[in-house]
Amino acid sequence: MNTINSSQIESFLTELKDFSLSYNDIGKGHIPIIFLHGFPFDKSSWDKQLHFLKESERVIAIDIRGFGKSTLGNEEATIEMYADDLISLMDDLSIDKAIVCGLSMGGYIVLNAVNRYQERFEAIILCDTQCIADSAEQKEGRMATIKEIKQKGLENFADKFIENAFFKDALIHKKEVVRKTKNVILETSIEAVMAGLNALATRHDSCSELSKIYVPTLIICGKEDKITPPIQSKYFHSNIKGSKICFLENAGHLSNLECPNEFNEAISEFIKSLEI
Ligand code: MLT
Repeated sequence: MNTINSSQIESFLTELKDFSLSYNDIGKGHIPIIFLHGFPFDKSSWDKQLHFLKESERVIAIDIRGFGKSTLGNEEATIEMYADDLISLMDDLSIDKAIVCGLSMGGYIVLNAVNRYQERFEAIILCDTQCIADSAEQKEGRMATIKEIKQKGLENFADKFIENAFFKDALIHKKEVVRKTKNVILETSIEAVMAGLNALATRHDSCSELSKIYVPTLIICGKEDKITPPIQSKYFHSNIKGSKICFLENAGHLSNLECPNEFNEAISEFIKSLEI
């Protein structure tokens, strides 16, 4: 394992199967909290959560295969493969059980992994995500985006994505967060974005599995999320036994970036309630 010093939080690189995975690992705690970013971002999305929680918990944020500083590997990416990568990292770090928090695509990965390896989870946090698969129309839209990116690069795609993901309040008043988030997209390789779009388009519906989830679950959603709207979170809440739900005012799809303080409070309260 190599150590890399990034600007803010130390990151590490480990070899897993056919690719290198980059992650932050900071703080001390009995049960680590692992963070999985949304598409098409990287582990820096979680900087504010890591800084806040590191005083009391061990917190790990990973670059999903192809994103950030992780390499893409050779196989066709799927949500199941990203979920297997999570379990491989836990094995590599000798983590038996973790609390895993995923936003949007990160949430799809959590759901996939928890359905197959529930014993590896102490608790889960599902943020701005959903259990439904893409409709035929959404799949077509993803394929059209792949075509556009191949021809024109990421700039136009990044602008449209940002416009849709952030609530207007952030677009107007939180320009620095918006700028940084757009830069993360532009720094991602076209290959990783295309692989990610394919993984999103081919993911399976996991709604029928929700009733089997027995680990404590927190659901967080921006009230103004247009990509995975609050109705999807309400569906989780109705179908995951004992789950807790928290809606954040003035947040869109990227609720942890748009309202970090409220988001951190919700996580912190949930962790306290676990009595671990
Ligand atoms: C994400 O934020 O991870 C993506 O927008 C999810 C999606 O497009 O389904």
